[in-house]
Amino acid sequence: MAYHKQMIPHEASPLHVSQNPKDAGFYNNPYAFYARLHALDAPVYWKEYGLWCVCGFDSVNNALRDDRFARLPPAGMPMPEHPPHLSDFAAVERHSLLALEPPKHTRIRKTVNQAFVNRHVTQMATDIEVLANRLIDGFESTNEIDLLKAYATPIPVTVIARLLGVPECECDSLLAWSHAMVRVYTMTQTKQEELDANQASKEFQQLLFDLIRQRRKSPTDDLLSHMVTLKTDPLSDDEIVSTAVLLLNAGHEATVHQIGNAIHTLLALNWPRTWVDDEKHGNAIVAESMRFDAPLHLFTRYAQQDVELHPNIVIQKGEEIALLLGAANRDPRRFNQADTFKPDRTDAASVAFGAGLHFCIGATLARLEMRIALNTLFKRMPDIKLAEQPQYQNSFHFHGLQSLNVKW
Ligand code: HEM
Repeated sequence: MAYHKQMIPHEASPLHVSQNPKDAGFYNNPYAFYARLHALDAPVYWKEYGLWCVCGFDSVNNALRDDRFARLPPAGMPMPEHPPHLSDFAAVERHSLLALEPPKHTRIRKTVNQAFVNRHVTQMATDIEVLANRLIDGFESTNEIDLLKAYATPIPVTVIARLLGVPECECDSLLAWSHAMVRVYTMTQTKQEELDANQASKEFQQLLFDLIRQRRKSPTDDLLSHMVTLKTDPLSDDEIVSTAVLLLNAGHEATVHQIGNAIHTLLALNWPRTWVDDEKHGNAIVAESMRFDAPLHLFTRYAQQDVELHPNIVIQKGEEIALLLGAANRDPRRFNQADTFKPDRTDAASVAFGAGLHFCIGATLARLEMRIALNTLFKRMPDIKLAEQPQYQNSFHFHGLQSLNVKW
């Protein structure tokens, strides 16, 4: 087939779309924009990002599984580099699973996967339930609370810190470091945010190097100990630090927002609370809330060769494209009544956890945390209501609320 060269479509073309990601109307409700894209039934060129974007469910799902696309540019092509003021951030990123492709990705991912299986994620259910109940004990006697701060935020960070073996007294620092670091992934950060992210990476690394030293001397039963005591194919300290930072950051940021988004959806729709009362329905609510209002909306990939995305749209080798996960989950060609929250749908699916090589390692843990967090909250406090209409934070990629004030 004769390929056309990739071209930026003329501004007058319907495939050339403009949307400021920092526009409050947009980041509060990106779904109206997505509906516009779905009506075109084609990839679009998003002017503000300067990227071709894939939005349909099948196209996003296929691209995530397609080895002609990867998280890194093809061999021999320049790698994206961080400026010198992000050197500590870059050091932490260097061995992150999300910045690797096979064979190195396969080696580290295998180790983390083994460690996750060894820790028997599902056996953590009791621990999570105790934690959720303890948090509710702390605010139940008041009559209004920001659930994002008092409930959704502490659960994931405590769970992942315990799993890794980072002392729980460090949780506040972990949250602050993680918030500072994720700003750099939004592609719209300021220089000050980059400096803060670098400082956070430096302090985070220091803590982990200290813990790794301790675990080498006296290993325990945690994931850090598992990583430092590997006999075959051991990981270097730098690889362990990158992996631990990724698990801590990825492990809590998206989960906090998904717990918040799911509670918001259920309260806004006045959903019957009995639905979350048993495991089967709880799982269906969690799955549908991930489809309906997912926390991560955009990931990028580099073409490893020229790829024809659509007739007359060819992505050239080395070019970056965006995959709009949040749009794919609302594709009317894939989902019946895509904009309706229907936990009993027979066409259930979502790409909220990605797909293919980089599919979320923590998906089982995240689903478990969400089900227990929702179930415990609605069982203990069936009368909670939204105290005000919550606002989403100004970071389109991380689609989560600024706060979630509820009353009872
Ligand atoms: C609701 C919560 C979560 C959501 C929506 C989510 C979503 C995702 C997505 C979409 C990816 C794939 C990124 C890509 O393909 O470029 C991913 C990867 C990853 N996630 Fe999650 N995640 C969540 C929770 C967690 C948790 C709890 C952990 C760890 C305990 C975790 C650890 C990871 C890791 C390590 C990767 C990288 C995997 C790889 O590159 O091989 N995530 N996640």
